Amino acid sequence: MNILVTGKNGQLGRSIQKIILNYDLHEFTLTGREELDLSSSESISKYFDDSPHFDVIINCAAYTAVDRAEDELELADKINHQAVKQLARFANSLNARLIHISTDYVFDGKNESLYLESDKTNPINIYGKSKLLGENAVLETMSNNALLLRTSWVYSEFGHNFVKTMLRLGNEKNEISVVSDQIGSPTYASDLAKAILHIISNDNFIKQSFQSEVFHFSNIGETSWSDFAKEIFKLEHLNCKVTPISSEQYPTLAIRPKNTTLSKEKITKHFKLQIPSWKKSLKECLNEII
Ligand SMILES: NC(=O)c1ccc[n+]([C@@H]2O[C@H](COP(=O)([O-])OP(=O)(O)OC[C@H]3O[C@@H](n4cnc5c(N)ncnc54)[C@H](OP(=O)(O)O)[C@@H]3O)[C@@H](O)[C@H]2O)c1
Repeated sequence: MNILVTGKNGQLGRSIQKIILNYDLHEFTLTGREELDLSSSESISKYFDDSPHFDVIINCAAYTAVDRAEDELELADKINHQAVKQLARFANSLNARLIHISTDYVFDGKNESLYLESDKTNPINIYGKSKLLGENAVLETMSNNALLLRTSWVYSEFGHNFVKTMLRLGNEKNEISVVSDQIGSPTYASDLAKAILHIISNDNFIKQSFQSEVFHFSNIGETSWSDFAKEIFKLEHLNCKVTPISSEQYPTLAIRPKNTTLSKEKITKHFKLQIPSWKKSLKECLNEII
């Protein structure tokens, strides 16, 4: 299969690159914004006009600056919505499969239980709204052959993320305050990358047309940002005290949903996936970083 991966320099893009190093089953084309700029519809059209046929498109690129999006509505919309619609149209015309990554921030976080794929979406910040428009554009354009994977709290050994920030702060400070009233499931980007490769390696994925659908993926279990930080310090033997604070005590430009724990039941059953717990995967990632 010829597989196009966008966002090659992001956390997920680099995690996919790491995993396919020893993978000669498929031909991968990896693009960053230099090759395929998703903020420009001309760049997207030109890229597909000049490219060979793709069987699968994995869209890992996104506008992910949650706070900055509040001021950069148009850019967030171009990348997370308009470009996604265009990718879906090209996928349709190539009869290719599209795997598009979305977010737990399409929910308002008011659920008291785990979020199911069928639960009502209601994003409360610009980033979440732009990602939901992207999801809808895929489903409207591709009634078949698209998978939307909603994930949450992504971290990895690559780029900037919560785990790397906590490692830095834990080495610099004796005490830090971390928000304790936002609950979710951390996702080690390598686990998501492995899950994507597992899905596309299934013969039926390419041989049989399927109805487009949403799936949730994160590591198993749930935590708050402050307990996440405590676990990082415990595993790394860092002597830094974590003081839990409320979201109101840590104001940000974009409001964050309070509880976005995703149910993983559908994806584990449908694709016979085994997903590690967040604590196990955190340990693995810390070993990679250190
Ligand atoms: N990070 C999270 O906590 C989180 C949570 C839920 C869902 N997600 C979703 O998961 C997916 C992967 O996230 P991630 O953590 O890997 O994000 P990331 O590390 O921020 O990577 C995003 C990538 O998109 C690229 N990009 C941005 N604008 C672009 C443009 N105009 N044209 C082409 N590429 C562009 C960036 O390029 P540069 O490297 O050049 O900037 C970057 O490499 C995204 O769909 C995101 O919405 C992430």
